[in-house]
Amino acid sequence: MPHITVKPFDTSLIQEEYHNTKVLFIAQDNYSEDELIGVHLEDESFLLHIKKSPENWLLKYDKVTRPLNVNLVKQAIADISNGLKLEVLQSNITIHKNKPLLANAYEKSIEDFDNIVYPFESVAIEVGFGSGKHLLYQAQNNPDRLFIGIEIHTPSAAQVLKQIELLGLTNVWVVNYDARLLLEMIPSNLCHQIFVHFPVPWDKKPQRRVISSSFLKESMRVLEKGGRLELRTDSHKYFWYSLETFLGEKVLKTSVEIRKNEALAVTSKYEARWLKQEKDIYDVYVTCAEVSEERVLDFNFSFKELSYKNETLDKISFKPIVFEEAFIHFERVFKIEDDAILIKLAFGSFDRPEHKFIYMSRKETYYYHSNPVKTVTNFKTHLKIMEYLHV
Ligand SMILES: C[S@@+](CC[C@H](N)C(=O)[O-])C[C@H]1O[C@@H](n2cnc3c(N)ncnc32)[C@H](O)[C@@H]1O
Repeated sequence: MPHITVKPFDTSLIQEEYHNTKVLFIAQDNYSEDELIGVHLEDESFLLHIKKSPENWLLKYDKVTRPLNVNLVKQAIADISNGLKLEVLQSNITIHKNKPLLANAYEKSIEDFDNIVYPFESVAIEVGFGSGKHLLYQAQNNPDRLFIGIEIHTPSAAQVLKQIELLGLTNVWVVNYDARLLLEMIPSNLCHQIFVHFPVPWDKKPQRRVISSSFLKESMRVLEKGGRLELRTDSHKYFWYSLETFLGEKVLKTSVEIRKNEALAVTSKYEARWLKQEKDIYDVYVTCAEVSEERVLDFNFSFKELSYKNETLDKISFKPIVFEEAFIHFERVFKIEDDAILIKLAFGSFDRPEHKFIYMSRKETYYYHSNPVKTVTNFKTHLKIMEYLHV
């Protein structure tokens, strides 16, 4: 990911505009020397992080707000560095001036799903597509079906978007988000298939696993009657864990099919590695047996009249707050002069947390730079956050 190392400089000299990059604000960490720069470039707003050590400073992307198009981050870093004539000690930034910026017609954001029109009658989802080999193969071979690929790892999502462009595919959307959350934005009975191929087993952090009883419940809601959730895994433990989940207490009626060492038409990078090691590969198919009720997503994530007051800072504790099945963890607070703050936080369900910033000024408060996914838990947590920040 793009970054440069520079000699320390005076951040108060940063101006409002450098070439194509607009600087919206500078935010100072309340507990360290680090600073965040809020920038706007090509219709995208995101943060750059200045990580300070005595000898040199690192100017890099911010993980929570980074745009899919890595060129934008490179461009913003280069614009600011050139504009301020910073002394660059090390850089991994090369901007290919002649290379057009990535076309993003097939990149979708969470907000897009608020009232998106599905241009194909038949829809499939792939969760965690990695290199995208299976996703692209499916899209090429089923031109009448829309494939929604959801990948949490930004560079993989960006790479696959490039491939979509090169292959001239028009039936793939890429969403760079946590699939466990995004699934809640998908209408009921829409999908023909949901692929989960070689999910990370997370043996030591089970709350990070994609497969869980809530994921199964959501998948069955999103699938059409007769549609299938298809898990493929090389992990013996994950296979048994998933089977237990699919047949578990929380599931009243289900139809599960298991296959061992079945060859598929396309072999992903991961699969090729396991095949070389002669590992067993398991497929578990869960078929949706019922038509589900429509879901109405009528949640409003506005903060109403909530605004930043001097006492707000005293209210923020960095200890996680746990209630019912959710939590709020204020991680860091950054001050924007005396007028506003930027709060970095994680919140929501333990197995599907949201990571966001909240921008609070004397006049208004909002999630920076996008609202959370419209889930019941997120909304309940949002109401608690409002209560908590109220002084
Ligand atoms: C082991 S790789 C497998 C990639 C690909 N499916 C394959 O078969 O080669 C798992 C992928 O799932 C992605 N992933 C993990 N958790 C995810 C989540 N909650 N939502 C979306 N993607 C996720 C990871 O970033 C990674 O690319």
